[in-house]
Amino acid sequence: MCGIISYKGPQNCYPILLNGLKRLEYRGYDSAGIVSLYNNQLLQNKRVGKVQVLEKEILSSIKINSNIGIAHTRWATHGKPSNENAHPHLDNLEDIAIVHNGIIENYSSLKDFLLKKGFSFKSETDTEVIVQLISYFINSKNLDYVDAIYAALELVEGAFAIVILNKNFPDMLIGARKSSPLLLGIGKSEFFFSSDASAIIEHTNQIVYLEDHEMCIINGDTYEITDFRTRESLEKIVDTVHLEIEDIEKGTFDYFMHKEIHDQQRTIINTISGRIDNEHVLLNGLFPFWDNIVNSSKAYITACGTSWHSALIGKIFIERFAKIPIIVDYASEFRYNDSPIDSSTCVIAISQSGETADTLAAIKKSKELGATTVGICNVPGSSISRETHCGVFTRCGSEIGVASTKAFTAQIIILYLLALKLAQSKNSLSKKEIVQCLDFSSLSEKISKVLIKEKNIKEVALKYCNSSDFLYLGRGINFPIALEGALKLKEISYIHAEGYPAAEMKHGPIALVDKNMPTVFLVSKDKSYDKILSNIEEVKSRNGKIIAITDSDDEKLSKLCNDIILVPQSNEFVFGILSTIVLQLFAFFIAVEKGCDVDQPRNLAKSVTVE
Ligand code: G6P
Repeated sequence: MCGIISYKGPQNCYPILLNGLKRLEYRGYDSAGIVSLYNNQLLQNKRVGKVQVLEKEILSSIKINSNIGIAHTRWATHGKPSNENAHPHLDNLEDIAIVHNGIIENYSSLKDFLLKKGFSFKSETDTEVIVQLISYFINSKNLDYVDAIYAALELVEGAFAIVILNKNFPDMLIGARKSSPLLLGIGKSEFFFSSDASAIIEHTNQIVYLEDHEMCIINGDTYEITDFRTRESLEKIVDTVHLEIEDIEKGTFDYFMHKEIHDQQRTIINTISGRIDNEHVLLNGLFPFWDNIVNSSKAYITACGTSWHSALIGKIFIERFAKIPIIVDYASEFRYNDSPIDSSTCVIAISQSGETADTLAAIKKSKELGATTVGICNVPGSSISRETHCGVFTRCGSEIGVASTKAFTAQIIILYLLALKLAQSKNSLSKKEIVQCLDFSSLSEKISKVLIKEKNIKEVALKYCNSSDFLYLGRGINFPIALEGALKLKEISYIHAEGYPAAEMKHGPIALVDKNMPTVFLVSKDKSYDKILSNIEEVKSRNGKIIAITDSDDEKLSKLCNDIILVPQSNEFVFGILSTIVLQLFAFFIAVEKGCDVDQPRNLAKSVTVE
């Protein structure tokens, strides 16, 4: 979702801002813009479409050199994608420019107020009211610049990360945040504001994460961080961020998603390493709150999208291994419902980005009600990782493709380890059982065997790329995996796909089955094998096309199916990981064949920072 990058320092801001915008593309956007200070005037370029379009326009104009500028990728909320609605927005006097990520909920009443005061608006956005409001306080109320921003922030309601540039204060850049991410990057005599570290990591790894209600005033070579409610100065820690450039580049792959699917052979090792010591699971981040977690009387897992599918798998393993009942809820529902949360409740939030607005709100609510909160996040320094009492990082590196891949497998590994650690504390599994469950020795090799078969997966996928609907069916943990497989296909190829528990098919979805409808079955050689064969027969007898992902080379199965994708024989959990990778590749090859924008699918955002 919207991305912010800003620069102030000795270098020309344009290459830095354009490169930063490209790094932010993965968040999802529909237009982009830059405002810099040039010859004492605000110079504005805004374009609907890709950053490349904006770049072309800027590079084709006279050679511009400016040492201060603000830039933005916009994901439309208020007003359609257009040049006018793209950020930055200027006040009527064209003195001040703003970029904004978030939603101003009371923008309509503020706009009415400003219209009555004679202001005119060029865009349909909620953002424009903030910059006009600041101008109002400066020009009608004679407040000085910084006080005008404080006054404006007192009035706006909702979520925002903003950066402001004022042509009358050419040495100043001001950023503020409430419920939307923003960080300050500190370089050598230069400063950056950014939505995330990937946009500035080439320049600095020294980061100050702004918290809610904080404002950062860069002035010349110094900066000051204040609480914009009290206007008092705050002491903040400068963090060193560890982010590898290779992680945010495609390398030899044409698509980030393809690279990230392949990354899994390596990332699962990062996720696991240092977390198993013989028969012991070490999740040290949970240590300070472990007693609360183990002794909680109720436990919830909350998340959105792919992370919600991980939660469903977490529930299965925690209930099975540790005998703790788990309720899984979408964060967007959980944040508003009346779940009985109190100080004996544990709430686990799963989020790749650590910035999803609904998940963050669910955590804040749980904390207010006294629960112990646990974060399972991929991005260190992210809002959810800082807001939760304790947590575990998934450590799978930056995920750039909008459709989540390696984060999912990392999340389910962490949840599986958590289930075993809980079982250890609860004595609900024997030492021998735990040791057996912790045997990941051949996982990476098995993943590599699946990846080597991608040509075969592609051949199967291409046979079905003209189908308009798919069913994905599985039982046990293969049901959430089916949901995730269907979501992957939907997200990147725009083909309608639904996941169901295989037996539930009889209660509705079977009505859709005909010769045009492919059904993807997840068939692991476990206790449900015979039952799933019966489900396959049911589809077969209605002329449905059947694709099975399986670790069984049973002839009976191959006779029933149109296509089989065989993965190495494994236990149930490892089968889940291997079949997930097959489903990711299956969706990927269909989407590429259809000419879809795989890494940045239409309408989707990587990091959903608005409600
Ligand atoms: C967006 C992304 C999904 C992701 C979901 C939750 O919809 O496109 O890939 O699963 O948000 O994101 P989170 O960062 O909280 O896991």
